[in-house]
Amino acid sequence: MDNIDCVKKKIEEIIKKSPVPEDPVHSKNTLEWLLKLKPDVDEALKVAALGHDIERAIEERKVGREDYKYYDEFKDAHALNSAKILAEIMKECNISKKLTDDIFFLVCHHERGGTRRVDILRDADSISFFHVNLPYYFIRNSVEETKKRCLWGYRKLPDNLKRVMIDFDYQNKELESLVRACIGESEQ
Ligand SMILES: [Fe+2]
Repeated sequence: MDNIDCVKKKIEEIIKKSPVPEDPVHSKNTLEWLLKLKPDVDEALKVAALGHDIERAIEERKVGREDYKYYDEFKDAHALNSAKILAEIMKECNISKKLTDDIFFLVCHHERGGTRRVDILRDADSISFFHVNLPYYFIRNSVEETKKRCLWGYRKLPDNLKRVMIDFDYQNKELESLVRACIGESEQ
């Protein structure tokens, strides 16, 4: 097994045990969207896509929403914490410093973007939230809270990707109209 495979395997093992039920499917689905957005994407971005939310899978290390006043502040702490955990895994798998630093940077900025490469990760993650996470999120949260999260995620998407979720079939009328309302509200 080469070093990158060692990292991917460890990420999968940790996320598989996540108490957040959508984490395993979201990890793989983010990679799938990344490949749709950029088929020749590099290995560092693939690892970042698989592991960008890893901290959520480790109950004793995850950051709590209640500890942050603002949602963006919480999301930045979440991204940094995932990057730190991945750096530890990469050390265990003897990944070079250059590649470790690159993946650390990508994961650290995956919520906000900022460079051409990290923007692809942010977009794949944002689309995947609407594709696979949202129905789970809706079960755990109120209509109001889900709507807020939808608006936050939708506004992050670049204009050329904003219509992508129109084709997602949520199999739930209430959630479908909530997503449509959120799109309508954002476009006003
Ligand atoms: Fe994510």
